[in-house]
Amino acid sequence: MIKLIDLHKSFGDKTITKGLDLTVEDGEFLAIIGRSGEGKSVLLKQMIGLIQPDSGSVIIDEQDITKLRGKERQTIFHKCGYVFQFAALLDSLNVLENVGITLLEDSTEIENVKPLVVEKLKNVGLAEDVLDKFPDELSGGMKKRVGLARTLMLSPKILIYDEPTTGLDPITVRLIHELIKKTHDEQKLTSIVISHDVEIFKYASHVAMLHEGKIVYKGPAKTIWECDNPYIYQFIRGLPEGPIKQIGFV
Ligand SMILES: Nc1ncnc2c1ncn2[C@@H]1O[C@H](COP(=O)(O)OP(=O)(O)OP(=O)(O)O)[C@@H](O)[C@H]1O
Ligand SMILES: [Mg+2]
Repeated sequence: MIKLIDLHKSFGDKTITKGLDLTVEDGEFLAIIGRSGEGKSVLLKQMIGLIQPDSGSVIIDEQDITKLRGKERQTIFHKCGYVFQFAALLDSLNVLENVGITLLEDSTEIENVKPLVVEKLKNVGLAEDVLDKFPDELSGGMKKRVGLARTLMLSPKILIYDEPTTGLDPITVRLIHELIKKTHDEQKLTSIVISHDVEIFKYASHVAMLHEGKIVYKGPAKTIWECDNPYIYQFIRGLPEGPIKQIGFV
């Protein structure tokens, strides 16, 4: 369903994606791991057309989305929902407006989309009483839920999450993972989750690792702790020794 072929992307003289190949089948729940600054967010953004690769193809449902322009490109968001790394809620809008905005045309009253907003909030475990709250008044976990509800408004078949659990306590992390899994199963989605949290392996079907601009490993999540791929072995245990060098970060 999603096929990335020989993707390349540089910003100035800094090459982030270096000939990356990755295939994600229908119904997969793929966890993507990799060090901070490796280009995971840049990879996801290339998948949904928010960043245009310098070369290579992004095939979604047999269509190369790198070739789409203007309005055509926006249709990607109906197939492929993106849950941003930091919820990305608009501070001056309340929850109803933040979630409803996805479907608002100039002429549409917010009240018209309210029933659907309430339904999507319910899907993510939030009650109607959050509708008139502003982002400042929500906890981190609630913000992530609202961000997910907003993405669900377009009923995408593919859901892409950028670090959905960063900055949350372990209990909330588990609740968010369960929510992602429930959404994946109930809506029969293909889900792609970037995460630094090894707990994600309990929920994912597959794990892929990004290193130096390429996918260096992809395999089943269930047996990831027995995997002897040297990158995976070092990374998931946080070991100092191995093929992943520690230069550049502290
Ligand atoms: N629009 C941009 N313009 C220039 N450089 C960028 C842009 N977006 C990302 N970068 C650079 O690309 C590199 C990879 O960034 P990216 O955000 O994808 O990392 P990441 O793997 O998601 O890290 P983290 O785990 O911390 O979120 C970084 O060096 C970043 O500064
Ligand atoms: Mg990132």
